[in-house]
Amino acid sequence: MDHDRAPAAPRARVRVRTRARLSAPGSPVCTPDWLALREPADHAARSGTLAAALDERLGTHGTVVVRDLGCGTGSMGRWLAPRLRARQQWFVHDRDAGLARRAAASLPVPATPVVGTVADIDLTGTDVVVCSALLDLLSAVEIGALVDACAAAGAAVLFALSVTGRVRFDPADRDDARLAAAFDAHQRRDGLAGPDAPDRVAAALGRAGMEVRRETTPWRLAGGSAGSRPLAEEWLRGWCDAAAVQDPTLDVDGYLARRLTAPFAVEVGHVDVLGLPR
Ligand SMILES: C[S@@+](CC[C@H](N)C(=O)[O-])C[C@H]1O[C@@H](n2cnc3c(N)ncnc32)[C@H](O)[C@@H]1O
Repeated sequence: MDHDRAPAAPRARVRVRTRARLSAPGSPVCTPDWLALREPADHAARSGTLAAALDERLGTHGTVVVRDLGCGTGSMGRWLAPRLRARQQWFVHDRDAGLARRAAASLPVPATPVVGTVADIDLTGTDVVVCSALLDLLSAVEIGALVDACAAAGAAVLFALSVTGRVRFDPADRDDARLAAAFDAHQRRDGLAGPDAPDRVAAALGRAGMEVRRETTPWRLAGGSAGSRPLAEEWLRGWCDAAAVQDPTLDVDGYLARRLTAPFAVEVGHVDVLGLPR
């Protein structure tokens, strides 16, 4: 008998943390760490074509007043401001005072923080209204009122990175569709626009008489590579958290165990919408 051999260790079980640490999809609260984690993927996804069309419309005369609604730490401004040739004065709005202050301090052009919700906004004298990753958090009524206010002010709009609900994994899993359906239902709770936001806003801009263009701007995350793996995992956990809240019969732990113990790629659908006054 070999007495020196250590007794066999009990077989390690795969432990999967199911709760997202940084993000809660559908929540109006965003942490700076979550916004920092997603910023490179957001910048890679944003539509340069629509930004160029906005720049073309604004030209180079005078100073344009730009308002970024739900600005977070200022990702949209850091990306868009250098793409506009006009002199710019930004107002960065957020319901969270700390985020609005961070955003104003980080922009490469003059920027003033404004604390408040989209419902409080005064667009007098505004040339451009932008937002990014915000519309799904608003109700259909709020989206309609926002578009009406933009049209009344004669402002151009660039509403970026609204989720569409289209999620495509590689490889596919037998439970992808059930989780996606539960996630989308969770996003639509209490009258929120969720994945209907891009269609709603495009239709409302058209009704308001604006020239409307839209481009698909998906995240393309490779969950097996070092680059976007942390974002892919955190996004996946948040996606699963929301699905589990909506449908407690889902085996979310089993699904996550399969996903997180193997490489995967995922495409997460977004749309950017540009509206230009005629
Ligand atoms: C998903 S984050 C996006 C942040 C930023 N636009 C970006 O692209 O990184 C949504 C932001 O909108 C803010 N927010 C959510 N609901 C809002 C509302 N009704 N009015 C104003 N800000 C809101 C949140 O505080 C958060 O900073």
